[in-house]
Amino acid sequence: MGKVYEKLQNCLECVRKQTDFVPKVAIVLGSGLGNYADNIKVECEIEYSSIEGFPVSTVPGHAGKFIFGYVDDVPVVCMKGRVHYYEGYDISDVVLPIRLMGLLGAKILFLTNASGGINKAFKAGDFMMITDHIAALFPNPLIGPNVDELGTRFPDMSHVYDLDLQEIIKESAKELSIDLKEGVYVQLTGPSFESPADIRMLSVLGADAVGMSTVCEAIVANHMGLKICGISCVCNLAAGISPTPLTHEEVQQAGKDAAPKFEKLVTLAVKKMAGI
Ligand code: HPA
Repeated sequence: MGKVYEKLQNCLECVRKQTDFVPKVAIVLGSGLGNYADNIKVECEIEYSSIEGFPVSTVPGHAGKFIFGYVDDVPVVCMKGRVHYYEGYDISDVVLPIRLMGLLGAKILFLTNASGGINKAFKAGDFMMITDHIAALFPNPLIGPNVDELGTRFPDMSHVYDLDLQEIIKESAKELSIDLKEGVYVQLTGPSFESPADIRMLSVLGADAVGMSTVCEAIVANHMGLKICGISCVCNLAAGISPTPLTHEEVQQAGKDAAPKFEKLVTLAVKKMAGI
């Protein structure tokens, strides 16, 4: 057994000592979107710090725990807080929680995040359903010996974001009269925000929104065969498009402002995932 899988098994054992809950949908809650737990019939909460070897975030506003429970009748596990590569963790640790939720039984991964809008048609507060991503600008989380127990060495990436789940998200937005944008998300390492020249480059490459998470998570989830979907909250216009300098506080505030709509959208979409 390789080191990465061994660590994962230890974490799994640690969680299984605390709960035998089997989630169907794993939801990752992005910056400022952390109060989603209020929409869940909570069965059990597990602090990341109680799981031996589990990466614990250092960023204010990213405190971490797993929340197990039900959205309507759908069993879910939510990650309240995630760690980022820029915090100094190995990329294999950054994605460990995703793999763990897969091993706990999740079949669907619902990713959310905060991003900067690159597409000129976007405004702060918009939601963008992720239809594809650009992964070429940070270390691939599958580098190192392949974890054969989870998936193949060279996974196909043609359809990372599941089309049925995209349909569900679009239907849900329509029913709720929420204007839903669609586009390509690019992950950079951060922690500095981009320069205006970075943003012009990313725009030429075909990115609609930029952030510091999510793509690495989608890669390992795709590797282990989960169905994946994602929504990005465009919390600010990217550097050079925004007339003002960017701050973490602004991003968090925009996330909080968007939270009520976001919670409705995620809840309805997860309910509709019962049949998948
Ligand atoms: N850039 C990178 N990450 C972000 C941004 C941004 O403008 N906004 C929120 N997360």
